[in-house]
Amino acid sequence: PLVAGVAGWPIAHSRSPVLFDHWFGATGIAGRYVPLAIRPERFAEVYRALPHAGFRGINVTIPHKLDALRLADEATEAARAIGAANMICFAEDGRIVADNTDAYGFIENLRHAEPGWRPETGPALVLGAGGAARAILHGLLEAGVPEIRLANRSRDKAEGLADAFGPRVACVDWDARAAAGAGAMLVVNATSLGMTGKPALEMPLDAVPDGALVNDIVYVPLETPLLAAARRRGLRAVDGLGMLLHQARPAFRAWFGVDPQVDDGLRRACL
Ligand code: ATR
Repeated sequence: PLVAGVAGWPIAHSRSPVLFDHWFGATGIAGRYVPLAIRPERFAEVYRALPHAGFRGINVTIPHKLDALRLADEATEAARAIGAANMICFAEDGRIVADNTDAYGFIENLRHAEPGWRPETGPALVLGAGGAARAILHGLLEAGVPEIRLANRSRDKAEGLADAFGPRVACVDWDARAAAGAGAMLVVNATSLGMTGKPALEMPLDAVPDGALVNDIVYVPLETPLLAAARRRGLRAVDGLGMLLHQARPAFRAWFGVDPQVDDGLRRACL
């Protein structure tokens, strides 16, 4: 049976089942993708049992991303560098292989939305230092960005990431984020600010050069205050929904053998 799923706690809000169902329809693959609500204290036992219940693999979301890596038999370089797993493959013998496709999804979203984007042409400014920022730093460094300026409200978390990712990452004070936009060819909001129900991100874009790309990982709403400000300033703006859609492609490919399309029909289905 072609069965996969997504493990989280809670899991009801996850859009991944809608996403995979759309791809089953588009590709004609007779698969099933089920939400798996797993309490944190039960994760290890359920995780080890899933390969023996016919699952090809699972996606993993909050709060299991760290445990999914720690408890795996093998891990890819991306999962180890990011320190978390979001895609798990179960081998025929039951071995658990942990991967992380968030960095891939982040970069693929920018490349698809802005085919002319060249990561190596200039510095990037990243706001935030949580789990999402970790994946974004890994993706940007792999893609060849020469310099990353990292600003976070709690500076110690930014410094921890800079230590982990090496000399191309430089911390800037949260209060200096607007000035740090000078010369930045990419600005990314990796905080939760701007999400429906949260305060807006205050990020003046005056110092950001013409031709720069502005990306928000928040996608509810799709047009965040940051992206609206970027458009008003004449900058290129890329929304965050595509990161969610593109990070799922490697899983579909690995479990069902087809690289699925990210198109407007999928975007509408997942909004
Ligand atoms: P995720 O895994 O999605 O990155 P997270 O680990 O909770 O989620 O990280 C949330 C990010 O949003 C952090 O960078 C956080 O800043 P702190 O590390 O200082 O907490 C940032 N964030 C959340 N609320 C914020 C606020 N009101 N002002 C500034 N940054 C905020």
